[in-house]
Amino acid sequence: MRKKIVAGNWKMNMNLNEGMALADGLNEYFKANPLSGKEVILCTPFIHLGMVGGLLTAPGLTFGAQNCNDHKSGAYTGEVSASMIRSTGAGSVILGHSERRTLYGENDELLESKTAEALRNGLRVIFCCGEVFAEREGNIHFDVVKRQLEKGLFGLSAEDFRRCVIAYEPVWAIGTGVTASPAQAQEMHSFIRGLVEKKYGKETAGDTTILYGGSCKASNAAELFANSDVDGGLIGGASLVKEEFCSIVNSL
Ligand code: 13P
Repeated sequence: MRKKIVAGNWKMNMNLNEGMALADGLNEYFKANPLSGKEVILCTPFIHLGMVGGLLTAPGLTFGAQNCNDHKSGAYTGEVSASMIRSTGAGSVILGHSERRTLYGENDELLESKTAEALRNGLRVIFCCGEVFAEREGNIHFDVVKRQLEKGLFGLSAEDFRRCVIAYEPVWAIGTGVTASPAQAQEMHSFIRGLVEKKYGKETAGDTTILYGGSCKASNAAELFANSDVDGGLIGGASLVKEEFCSIVNSL
């Protein structure tokens, strides 16, 4: 069954105390207001992972990381492995975020290895794709997303693929206040589901969760989530404010 998910990507925000306070506040809220079948994932900086897990008791409220290394272990100073992440109790990891692709030069091949390593260690992968503004203007946005998925994700077996969530994040909408219109989001999500169907079949395509990300906030979440192929959101800035984030979750 296709799962409805709202994931908060905290990015490089919140010191340990601030992050714990936010996680605790969200836990209290979702204990009082049950998620009833939806899942909320807090994707925190690495330093929070070991502590946040102990705070989350509300059913459906889980946590994850924003990146992992593609190697198992070893001399990779400053890096964090998938198995370390998993050992904190985290269930998910975001891979392929545009900030990682652009600022840290992560390419399709590296993301393919990271995805494999994350899955090998029992993490669910939230795999991001999306075009930059010039690519949309040049009308090659579908080609770009297709390439990102084919190169980064579609090498997986059907069984492994079913442990992934796709997040469509048009880069021009990330942190800019400009959101994709509900029609633009639906059009791309439906295209992505079609690609999944071609590769893995109708049943898997129907079961795949596809999230929208990019300036999604309380005021526009409902109209984005109303589309049949938008199964939730990957939320940046608005995930750092408890009331705003809860309101987004409630509109799903
Ligand atoms: P904003 O919600 O801040 O635009 O960020 C979206 C994002 O990059 C989530 O991964």
